[in-house]
Amino acid sequence: MASHIFLLSTPFLVFSLLAYASFLASFAYSATGAEVANGRKEAEALLEWKVSLDNQSQSLLSSWAGESPCNWFGISCDKSGSVINISLPNSSLRVTHLYSLHLFSNRLSGNLPRDVCLGGLLSYFAAFENYFTGPIPKSLKNCSSLVRLRLERNQLSGNISEAFGTHPHLNYMDLSDNELHGELSLKWEQFNNLTAFKISGNKISGEIPAVLGKATQLQVLDLSSNQLVGRIPKELGNLKLIELALNDNRLSGDIPFDVTSLRHLERLGLAANNFSATILKQLSKCSKLIFLNISKNRFTKLYFHQNKSLP
Ligand SMILES: *[C@@H]1O[C@H](CO)[C@@H](O)[C@H](O)[C@H]1NC(C)=O
Ligand SMILES: *[C@@H]1O[C@H](CO)[C@@H](O)[C@H](O)[C@H]1NC(C)=O
Ligand SMILES: *[C@@H]1O[C@H](CO)[C@@H](O)[C@H](O)[C@H]1NC(C)=O
Ligand SMILES: *[C@@H]1O[C@H](CO)[C@@H](O)[C@H](O)[C@H]1NC(C)=O
Ligand SMILES: *[C@@H]1O[C@H](CO)[C@@H](O)[C@H](O)[C@H]1NC(C)=O
Ligand SMILES: *[C@@H]1O[C@H](CO)[C@@H](O)[C@H](O)[C@H]1NC(C)=O
Ligand SMILES: *[C@@H]1O[C@H](CO)[C@@H](O)[C@H](O)[C@H]1NC(C)=O
Ligand SMILES: *[C@@H]1O[C@H](CO)[C@@H](O)[C@H](O)[C@H]1NC(C)=O
Ligand SMILES: *[C@@H]1O[C@H](CO)[C@@H](O)[C@H](O)[C@H]1NC(C)=O
Repeated sequence: MASHIFLLSTPFLVFSLLAYASFLASFAYSATGAEVANGRKEAEALLEWKVSLDNQSQSLLSSWAGESPCNWFGISCDKSGSVINISLPNSSLRVTHLYSLHLFSNRLSGNLPRDVCLGGLLSYFAAFENYFTGPIPKSLKNCSSLVRLRLERNQLSGNISEAFGTHPHLNYMDLSDNELHGELSLKWEQFNNLTAFKISGNKISGEIPAVLGKATQLQVLDLSSNQLVGRIPKELGNLKLIELALNDNRLSGDIPFDVTSLRHLERLGLAANNFSATILKQLSKCSKLIFLNISKNRFTKLYFHQNKSLP
């Protein structure tokens, strides 16, 4: 029984995502429980959520009382008495089993649902383009079911160093344009299926870990506009990268791998760093390169063997 929650244009829900969080958490949890107990557990979860809303919102939900939510305003149930749909003014939620949660492009604020993966089934979580604050939800760390995670363009903060665990199915992760700090010390060797990792526009510090080269499926790596220092680890040369964006950091040194090993590379951003050596010797062999930005560095020499012109 796959299920999805869609929250669309939601002025009504803007005020309390914390509340919403605990609602979702309990809901996802109850949905995995026995069918019979569901109606009651769902009622509890809904009431818990209601209590945490402001008074005005609560008054809109005055019919929300008692143990059977099926007659409540905005709620519909299936034959077994399980909530299948929640429709509130200017929002639409469909709930059964938290497998997929889409909150993107709203004006939502508050924290993300802390226990969003409590049911252990969450695969798609998209909350990008909102005003969410606070940390990356704790339960994502254990969320091995995760396939796609998009939290970009919010105001999330906190240290990401221990925010993630083992995510064998994770295919796409975008945390760009938040206020995250910490280091990239994730267990990269366990991100076996990750093809894109973007964390541009945060305050990530430290060095680029060599073990990132063990995320062998990685094709898009965007670490730009952070506070990374040190050198590019040669292990990145093992990846089949199509896009590598390292611009606007404090990286230095050489490009330590034979750039020809990046023969799939289409976009390379190295601008605004402190790269200083005579690098990019083999760049002309990157036959697929269509974008290169190396401005604002300390390059002393460039080699172009072939008839290549810079964009
Ligand atoms: C909200 O309702 C509670 C209980 O009915 C009351 O104590 C509180 O003062 C109300 N708050 C506002 C801001 O009206
Ligand atoms: C749930 O509500 C939405 C929006 O009102 C509606 O389109 C959909 O058909 C409903 N689904 C069920 C299963 O009742
Ligand atoms: C729903 O949104 C429309 C337009 O944004 C607004 O006019 C209307 O008052 C809202 N309805 C409720 C119940 O919030
Ligand atoms: C993650 O799982 C471990 C072991 O199953 C458990 O001890 C820990 O509390 C869980 N952490 C979170 C944030 O759910
Ligand atoms: C990895 O991703 C591919 C598609 O990109 C998918 O077919 C495959 O099942 C995934 N593997 C795992 C372990 O999730
Ligand atoms: C982030 O957390 C890690 C591990 O807990 C810690 O070692 C590191 O100092 C923290 N980084 C920052 C910038 O707070
Ligand atoms: C770049 O390197 C020079 C010389 O090592 C150093 O003085 C400068 O602070 C570095 N700049 C940045 C932005 O790291
Ligand atoms: C190249 O990088 C510099 C420094 O980050 C930036 O100002 C400039 O806009 C970039 N150019 C392009 C075409 O992206
Ligand atoms: C560079 O261009 C010239 C003139 O178009 C051509 O004769 C030459 O073979 C080209 N060299 C390479 C390495 O492609």
